Amino acid sequence: MPLAVGSWAREVLLCVGLLALLFVLAFGGEHDGVNIWPMPKSASHGSQTLFLSKDFVLSTQGSKYGDGSELLKEAFDRMIDVVEVNHIVDGRTPTSSVLAGLNVVILSPQDQLNFGIDESYKLDVPAAGKHVYARIEAQTVYGALHALQTFSQLCHFNIYKRIVELQLAPWYILDQPRFPYRGLLIDTSRHYLPLPIIKGVIDSMAYSKLNVLHWHIVDKQSFPLEIPSYPRLWAGAYSYSERYTKADALEIVQYAERRGVNVLAEIDVPGHALSWGVGYPDLWPSAECQEPLDVSKEFTFKVIDGILSDFTKVFKFRFVHLGGDEVNTSCWTNTPHIIEWLNKHGMNESQGYKYFVLRAQKIALSHGYEVINWEETFNNFRSQLSPKTVVHNWYFFLICHVCSNWYQAIHMLSNMSNVSSHH
Ligand SMILES: *[C@@H]1O[C@H](CO)[C@@H](O)[C@H](O)[C@H]1NC(C)=O
Ligand SMILES: *[C@@H]1O[C@H](CO)[C@@H](O)[C@H](O)[C@H]1NC(C)=O
Ligand SMILES: *[C@@H]1O[C@H](CO)[C@@H](O)[C@H](O)[C@H]1NC(C)=O
Ligand SMILES: *[C@@H]1O[C@H](CO)[C@@H](O)[C@H](O)[C@H]1NC(C)=O
Repeated sequence: MPLAVGSWAREVLLCVGLLALLFVLAFGGEHDGVNIWPMPKSASHGSQTLFLSKDFVLSTQGSKYGDGSELLKEAFDRMIDVVEVNHIVDGRTPTSSVLAGLNVVILSPQDQLNFGIDESYKLDVPAAGKHVYARIEAQTVYGALHALQTFSQLCHFNIYKRIVELQLAPWYILDQPRFPYRGLLIDTSRHYLPLPIIKGVIDSMAYSKLNVLHWHIVDKQSFPLEIPSYPRLWAGAYSYSERYTKADALEIVQYAERRGVNVLAEIDVPGHALSWGVGYPDLWPSAECQEPLDVSKEFTFKVIDGILSDFTKVFKFRFVHLGGDEVNTSCWTNTPHIIEWLNKHGMNESQGYKYFVLRAQKIALSHGYEVINWEETFNNFRSQLSPKTVVHNWYFFLICHVCSNWYQAIHMLSNMSNVSSHH
């Protein structure tokens, strides 16, 4: 059943990020060879062991980036925490082979996180010497953040010596992402996730150098998010407390951005939207037949407009996701006022579906967003989609059905056997 497949696929995606985290924490530095996740574009190393000074410092000498918001400094502190794994570092540091600190040189003064920004970096760890520093060079602070993750994976806490060591020095690493969109999907409609859990997911994404948290916020099962323009929408939440306020959503976005992760918000229309009608039953075709959203009412599109207008105050990513998958129009063709409306406009139900998706796209574009839609929209009426549409593939086995002849596509990892093809 497609719904079940979709949810399964989404959970698998989540697992990949968490596995990545476990992999890094469990095995980082324990084995010979290069244990960097994901594998950098190029890496070469030697065979010396260095030890991190107990007052290992961050230096930004030569950097054009001022770090006024302490984004880099916080990332550095987190990196140290990851490496020390909460141990007390009280061993004696050998006097030779000490790494005194990390010099981070960032070439751009900007720290606005955008899609397609330069995330590349160079990481140099010198051979043993007196008072030596490792060096990171990156165009943007977000490239430097990735370099810190990589650096942390070269280090580990030596439980016998009770100090942090770095193996296989000297290192020379050049890295840049192969894909500009490296996403992970969470589904807070089927499973409410408390804020600390979402933050943990974002942390695991940062460890794995993923950069888009695709927040599938609402669906058939629940509507957890506060929408000030239509305050009864979150009546569709599972319960009083399984909700996010607008400020909660903003907190998630800001937390993610400080870690180089963009948040892609999704409202999946016109299917997958039954929960909207709990607060506004007019959005249902009828009390008995509750999805897809009623295509015949202006009110439906006013609500979408209100939601997207509220979104612009929270979700600053260039894209918004409008779903559009798995639309079963049988409620439309069973509801007299919708049949009448379709007839009046000379549409059959599949044309009604197209009308809905294209009108929702126009609303999103009018708010300055570019649009992502699930692949069914492309399979049904590709030539009429806005050329700005990014097509999101999610079916098994159809990986390249979508990618030819289209400007931009995202592929969903839907099967563990094909982990490497996700981008
Ligand atoms: C569409 O929904 C109707 C009514 O709920 C159901 O009988 C039908 O099997 C569904 N069609 C598909 C293709 O799932
Ligand atoms: C709807 O109309 C279009 C255009 O005439 C046609 O191609 C399509 O097959 C029709 N769909 C249905 C479900 O009748
Ligand atoms: C994943 O895809 C492979 C190759 O097509 C297939 O053999 C395997 O059964 C699939 N795994 C799952 C869990 O669906
Ligand atoms: C895995 O991904 C590659 C690259 O996209 C593709 O060529 C291959 O067919 C995929 N395999 C499966 C089993 O989907």
